Amino acid sequence: MAGVLTAWFLRQRGAKVLLLEADRLAGGQTRNTTAKITAQHGMIYERLSEQKGELAARQYASANQRAVEAYRRLVRERKIPCEWEDCPAFLYSTQEEDPVRQEAHTAARLGLECSFTLETELPFPVKGAARLEGQARFHPLRFLGALAEELEVFEHSRVIAAEGGALRTERGRVKAEQVVFTTHYPFINVPGLYFLRMHQERSYVLALRGAARLKGMYYGTDPDGVSLRPCGDLLLLGGGKHRTGENSAGGRYRGLEEQAERLFPGASQAAHWSAQDCISIDGVPYIGPYASAAPNWYVATGFGKWGMTGSMVSALLLSGLLTGERDPDGAVFDPGRMDLRASAANLWEDGKQAVKGLCRSAFEPPRAAVEALTPGHGGIVEVEGEKLGVYKTEDGEVFTVSARCPHLGCQVEWNPDEKTWDCPCHGSRFDFHGRLLDGPAQKGL
Ligand SMILES: Cc1cc2nc3c(=O)[nH]c(=O)nc-3n(C[C@H](O)[C@H](O)[C@H](O)COP(=O)(O)OP(=O)(O)OC[C@H]3O[C@@H](n4cnc5c(N)ncnc54)[C@H](O)[C@@H]3O)c2cc1C
Ligand code: FES
Repeated sequence: MAGVLTAWFLRQRGAKVLLLEADRLAGGQTRNTTAKITAQHGMIYERLSEQKGELAARQYASANQRAVEAYRRLVRERKIPCEWEDCPAFLYSTQEEDPVRQEAHTAARLGLECSFTLETELPFPVKGAARLEGQARFHPLRFLGALAEELEVFEHSRVIAAEGGALRTERGRVKAEQVVFTTHYPFINVPGLYFLRMHQERSYVLALRGAARLKGMYYGTDPDGVSLRPCGDLLLLGGGKHRTGENSAGGRYRGLEEQAERLFPGASQAAHWSAQDCISIDGVPYIGPYASAAPNWYVATGFGKWGMTGSMVSALLLSGLLTGERDPDGAVFDPGRMDLRASAANLWEDGKQAVKGLCRSAFEPPRAAVEALTPGHGGIVEVEGEKLGVYKTEDGEVFTVSARCPHLGCQVEWNPDEKTWDCPCHGSRFDFHGRLLDGPAQKGL
């Protein structure tokens, strides 16, 4: 979404733009989003105004609400058939009233049309909710398809190296005056050092049939709160977030299914899926210059699971910046910021995880022997002094891969839900053949 939108807005401003896509267009995380278009990003405004100050919080609110309006305008003006629906967005709590009440007041003070309410359409009682007017939802792939028709796109053209404006792809070279990296997780480690200030988190979605018919979109703020988003006859229920690579042996869907049964008894599951997103250390995306040492490079990443508006903020901000116009709300997203107050907790946790991932690879004994692996499962096995990831199929066929992540060398972990190898350090993922699924790694195992 970030790449297509940025390319499209740059083209509107008269730039000659080429979009290079490693695989097929819209095959990344955007394919599995729930596509709420909203400036309500969980309990963010109270935290931002306290940790970063009123101005930064106001910039964040204004940029994201402008993004919602920009989508609406574009869809209307171009008559894009993408199942667009205007609706309010709610933050709700079943446990505590005060935090949502405070969040609603802070959001309203920052300029958003937000109010506290005790009334929702939810079929279970809530202590309170923050209602934000003027939000929307849509079908992201139909929307992208329409915009991409106007762009020059090269698919199956992974960028494998970049030096200044010279990009090397798997299929040839490209020269550009300016380069925008919208590759979800930036894959160039130096300069930029994004691997030191971002990790990835996965979440899970169930599509329910026969659940409540809601008009609004909902996001639960309690530790076990779920996200709800109507979609035709279905209700999408999302949750179960965890750091990529921290998998549970029994799988992650069961917990969400139990919540669905409790909240919407009688509903049945029509589909399920999962996805992941980049989380920056202060919870605000990085949108702007890539690094001071790379003057003509730009980046858009770290959307924290709010990349629909995040992508539109990126497109508006970067298309302006590259053509000589500064966005009035751009400062809060500046990738060069270092805000210790807002970043300390995540910085510590990310560092700890990286050390853990590297140590596991060097010192931890292997956990299984090939013979001991249950069919349908995977585990780390040592063979002739080398640690291997081994997956045994239900039929007893065995697939082995190197257990060392090609990004920066951490040890990958088996993901029983998706039968993949996931890296706990920065979230790269691979299928059981070792083929690359998600970056920042750019090679398979
Ligand atoms: C379960 C879940 C639900 C979500 N729901 C919402 C929601 O309701 N609302 C919301 O706002 N956000 C939501 N998000 C977040 C949102 O989906 C993401 O932030 C957004 O889709 C990210 O878009 P992107 O363009 O940055 O990344 P992607 O869609 O992953 O696109 C990146 C592209 O870059 C390509 N690429 C990678 N490396 C290279 C390379 N070297 N060369 C060329 N191309 C490359 C990839 O192939 C891919 O196509 C959700 C996230 C999750 C996990
Ligand atoms: S993703 Fe960075 S080491 Fe694996």
